[in-house]
Amino acid sequence: MALGLSRRVKEIAPSPTLAIDAKTKELIAKGEDIVNLSVGEPDFPTPKGASDAAIAAIEAGFTKYTAPAGTVELRQAIAAKLQAENGLTYSADEIIVSSGAKHSLYNAFIAVVDEGDEVILQAPYWVSYPEMIRLAGGVPVIIQTDESTGFKMTPDMLAAAITAKTKAVLLNSPSNPTGAVYHPHELEALAEVIAKHAIYIISDEIYEKMVYGPEHVSIASFSQTLKDRTILVNGFSKAFSMTGWRVGYIAADKQLVKAMTSFQSQTTSNAASISQKAAEAALDHFEPSNIEMFRKRRDYVIRRIQNMPSIHCEVPEGAFYVFPNISELFGKSYQGKVIDSSDTFAAVALEQANISIVPGSGFGAPNNFRISYATSQQNLEKAMDRLENFLRECR
Ligand SMILES: Cc1ncc(COP(=O)(O)O)c(C=O)c1O
Repeated sequence: MALGLSRRVKEIAPSPTLAIDAKTKELIAKGEDIVNLSVGEPDFPTPKGASDAAIAAIEAGFTKYTAPAGTVELRQAIAAKLQAENGLTYSADEIIVSSGAKHSLYNAFIAVVDEGDEVILQAPYWVSYPEMIRLAGGVPVIIQTDESTGFKMTPDMLAAAITAKTKAVLLNSPSNPTGAVYHPHELEALAEVIAKHAIYIISDEIYEKMVYGPEHVSIASFSQTLKDRTILVNGFSKAFSMTGWRVGYIAADKQLVKAMTSFQSQTTSNAASISQKAAEAALDHFEPSNIEMFRKRRDYVIRRIQNMPSIHCEVPEGAFYVFPNISELFGKSYQGKVIDSSDTFAAVALEQANISIVPGSGFGAPNNFRISYATSQQNLEKAMDRLENFLRECR
């Protein structure tokens, strides 16, 4: 383009999941029978109570601007949820509702990160974190984790990464893409390290409901000091299967929320009024049987993978992903095509075996790939049969 682009956007890495997604859609459009394990959204429907509330909102003409931070009713309902489920006391003015948790996270980085500030996060990470930190002018400082610590950082790893420039530590438990969950004692040990320094904690708890081992705990619940510096991020996309409605939120110190509200008021304004009504109703319609279904699917996928060659896998305790390691496969070939990275693995698996999965490279984990089991049992069976045959034919 003759007139060029800003340095800021030129430096954004395109989402690595998009390439695989585009190719998957292209093949499906051509009539190929692809099993898609690359989607990051639940396959169950939005609760009817939420959809009904949205229809009622439209019919009642609730279709205008709301307060930039969201309706008082929704913020009060979120505060009640945080009290009942997380043991955290927030008032409505300590909560800001945004257009999805992704938007909430971006507001958070803008509010606390200055040019050159460091934000610590672990790899494997959700693809958008490093890019959003960079967009805010910050420097992502990545702690590499792998299977040896269950894809979790240890207190020593965290302590070694903190410098005078550290502004925040980003936590994501349960994790996308690994499904790893920090147990309360592990979080407490990290909290002890953090408490010694003047740094924020950005805690992305969007998968909190999807846990199959110990219950989810928020780091903000350990002490008032930790709560004061935690920016708790959550949303409706995963727990209520409301990805398209775009509602996320932050609970944090009042001054921080005020600053994020000013920023949001000058950029995007409020989350859609109708979606806010749907979200408020959704809080009364959580469906625990969906979580039980996810647990069964996770168990099935893990059982199958454990019987396949050249692949091994941690048992994830949360989210709806498994994150197998395929480094043993590198150097082998499938029908003449050499597999030398998780990217070639994903490309060959899609083109030759009709399974769409996401390579780990974009998550900072080049030896792994991500399977989303947010799809039917029938699809999972088909996909696991294909994956097994594929791996057995690699030599
Ligand atoms: C870890 C994590 N955080 C945040 C989000 C953003 O969710 P949304 O913007 O749909 O609320 C996602 C979505 O995939 C995610 O995986």
